[in-house]
Amino acid sequence: MNNLEQLIAQATADFTAATGIARLEEVKAAYLGKEGSLTALLKSLGKLPPDERKTAGAAINIAKAQVESALALRREALKNAQLEAQLAAEALDVTLPGRGPIRGSIHPVMRTLDRIEQLFRSIGFEVADGPEIETDWHNFTALNTPENHPARSMHDTFYLLDAAGKVREDVLLRTHTSPVQIRTMLAHAEKYRHLDSMPEIRVICPGRVYRVDSDATHSPMFHQVEGLWVSENVSFADLKGVVADFLRRFFESDDLKVRFRPSFFPFTEPSAEIDVAFMHGPMEGRWLEIAGCGMVHPNVLRCGGIDPEKYTGFAFGMGPDRLTMLRYGINDLRLFFDGDLRFLSQFQ
Ligand code: DAH
Repeated sequence: MNNLEQLIAQATADFTAATGIARLEEVKAAYLGKEGSLTALLKSLGKLPPDERKTAGAAINIAKAQVESALALRREALKNAQLEAQLAAEALDVTLPGRGPIRGSIHPVMRTLDRIEQLFRSIGFEVADGPEIETDWHNFTALNTPENHPARSMHDTFYLLDAAGKVREDVLLRTHTSPVQIRTMLAHAEKYRHLDSMPEIRVICPGRVYRVDSDATHSPMFHQVEGLWVSENVSFADLKGVVADFLRRFFESDDLKVRFRPSFFPFTEPSAEIDVAFMHGPMEGRWLEIAGCGMVHPNVLRCGGIDPEKYTGFAFGMGPDRLTMLRYGINDLRLFFDGDLRFLSQFQ
């Protein structure tokens, strides 16, 4: 093997040994660079006698071409390998499920309200509505709440300010849904004024209410569902039946005790508090208060434009937030109103 063949073989071996493009370019310099061995050979041609120069030059040029093509081959191979590696690293798994937009969900309290509406509609109740900014008269006076009743104090009630920033005593954020009783009765009485005997009223009024109160079981804004049934012969027995049946259907359980505990509300007489107790599960045997109720006070019927000598009615006001906590086993009311998606997305 002459020197040139050896050089070509060595160069090819060196190129093959280079495992990266950068290393390959270094190896190339050793042969084809300014100080490279092939370059040196070409430079040395000048020292040869003229008759040898031509053949030697041709031979060196052929060798140079071979080294260059070996280099080009190796360079191509390395580039391909690099591309392969990159493609493998960046491979997409098209079988993975798509990310898509985040799905919203119905708020747990809204689910409860929907459910309550559905259950009451199934026994002939309609859904009534009233304003959250309410007059003192609808919220208190018409509900037989005397001027000096503690519920009227600034401590419980959010009052509105006038343009000058002074507290207005005649408008407030409703503290309960009971004023919807008054609005419903007034509208009903007006609508059927021309009749000797009006059709019965059977409504529930779900909505937001406000009180100056905040801890694990109280929020300044919370929900209530008011119920009102006014007719010619409604009794406390009807109230008990409707409420107890509702609760069993709401909790999907006959394994439930319902208790009517005597109490006081200005707008009902007699009045009671409704407690439930589960006979199984983590809350077993614990009585929990979930509503107030009673027979509508004659003064309240009168304020609603209804003759208490002819009609009687029962009413109740329950806390759907409480019912939701019980149904889903939630122990902090504030979770409902924090807007934390980790909590809310569990109700999809
Ligand atoms: N409004 C009462 C409250 O917020 C609850 C209530 C009690 C409503 C008795 C009623 C009722 O309709 O008859 O505490």
